[in-house]
Amino acid sequence: KTPIILDCDPGHDDALALMMVIASPEFDLRAVTTSAGNQTPDKTFDNACRLLTLMERTDIPVASGNKKPLLQELMIADAVHGDTGVDGTVLPKSEIPATNLTAIELIAETLSKSAEKVTMVVTGPMTNMALFLAVYPELKSKIEKIVFMGGSTDVGNVKPGSEFNIAVDPESAKMVLNDSIPLVMAGLNLTHQAQILDAEIEEIGKINNKVAQSAYGLLKFYGIYYGQEKWGFQGIPLHDPCTIAWMLQPELFTSGHYHVDVEVNGDLTRGETIVDKFDLLGLEKNTEVLLSIDRTKFVELLISKLKKFDEL
Ligand code: BDR
Ligand code: CA
Repeated sequence: KTPIILDCDPGHDDALALMMVIASPEFDLRAVTTSAGNQTPDKTFDNACRLLTLMERTDIPVASGNKKPLLQELMIADAVHGDTGVDGTVLPKSEIPATNLTAIELIAETLSKSAEKVTMVVTGPMTNMALFLAVYPELKSKIEKIVFMGGSTDVGNVKPGSEFNIAVDPESAKMVLNDSIPLVMAGLNLTHQAQILDAEIEEIGKINNKVAQSAYGLLKFYGIYYGQEKWGFQGIPLHDPCTIAWMLQPELFTSGHYHVDVEVNGDLTRGETIVDKFDLLGLEKNTEVLLSIDRTKFVELLISKLKKFDEL
């Protein structure tokens, strides 16, 4: 089993990523930590707790992280994710036991206790990771790698070249990318290929268990935003689940190793990931950048995972 900690900001696609983790015996999910991003920190935390309650996994510790990014004010994505952050489904009230630990304390405790290295999966802004690495540098060696959804080799989604998770807290992302930890990046260049089509969403609607039904409601709501003509999408891009799919079935992906950094200064380019594909800077190839995905098999994987909840 691969030990992981999921740092997320649920969020429709974060919720789907978490469902895939819980449905997969390949993972040993040691903790969930939440960041401020898609919604305010209190809401993303509550959503993570409610999702785990829905999946009857109240044994997994959850802790809430930073209230705001390092340098700038918090920008949320309520236009995408609605007022709750997971509009489109009604989740049960949290039955997760209360904790006094903050996200970085829970990450530190989990890593300290672990005999093996742990993979960090980050599907929200990088603020918790940056703070963690600044406060507990001695625990860095316990991190196997950081698999993150964020950035892009081409287009952005909040500015022409800037992706939301990085743009929310560019300084944090820059700190994490420059900390010599092995990185795997699922950016928009990849996740825009990972679209689920209407007919496939309807297939999920026919799966008769409470988690799949919740996923169906989430996808229907998520589709409203991504159905806007300006995107030109056939379906809905499932950003965050790409991280989990890569961990489960890397053979569905192609990738390249490049130097990646974050622009924090430009008026138009603040929050952009700079991916040095031609090695023009001659710097350390710090990131495995995912480039393409077998869309059909990816959606099949998601659907097969949602069916696993029949056993609940
Ligand atoms: C990322 O931003 C959030 O809205 C999604 O949850 C995803 O992590 C996509 O840019
Ligand atoms: Ca997210």
